[in-house]
Amino acid sequence: MSKGGAAVGDVLLTVNDLKTYFYTASGVSKAVDGVNFRINRGEIMGIVGESGSGKSVASSSIIRLLPARTGKIVSGSIDFDGTDVLKLGDKDLLAFRGREVSMIFQNPMTSLSPVFKVGHQMVEMICAHHKVSRQEAYRMGEEAL
Ligand SMILES: Nc1ncnc2c1ncn2[C@@H]1O[C@H](COP(=O)(O)OP(=O)(O)OP(=O)(O)O)[C@@H](O)[C@H]1O
Ligand SMILES: [Mg+2]
Repeated sequence: MSKGGAAVGDVLLTVNDLKTYFYTASGVSKAVDGVNFRINRGEIMGIVGESGSGKSVASSSIIRLLPARTGKIVSGSIDFDGTDVLKLGDKDLLAFRGREVSMIFQNPMTSLSPVFKVGHQMVEMICAHHKVSRQEAYRMGEEAL
């Protein structure tokens, strides 16, 4: 959602020197080690890299969805539309995820239910975060696709 006065082309997301490490029994895995990028409002960006290069971990870091015990953002900053994502408390984080930023996970068979149409699942999510009618939610879902 855009804040007052925001326009296409304004900076929306700034990821600066992001480092996300995993602390496991077999040692420290530096999954993301100093990533920088910026996305403007209305811009579409793709990240390309070999398997295991950290694309998913970098994306999960932006919504702060990492394994609680082992995964840690050890340094860097994430600014989304003026919000310091790394400073969000639990309650604000819940509102942030799904409303401001959504993630479609890599394995659609586990992240989407095969028994409901995609439209239905998008409408559910939109209605959970916005005060809109189902019809309007459907329109928003269609626009997002
Ligand atoms: N929960 C975890 N615990 C420990 N290491 C992890 C965990 N999740 C990811 N990693 C490690 O982080 C690194 C980056 O993984 P990531 O899943 O981000 O790669 P990717 O670029 O998304 O790969 P793919 O193209 O296969 O989806 C890998 O070395 C992976 O083994
Ligand atoms: Mg991945």
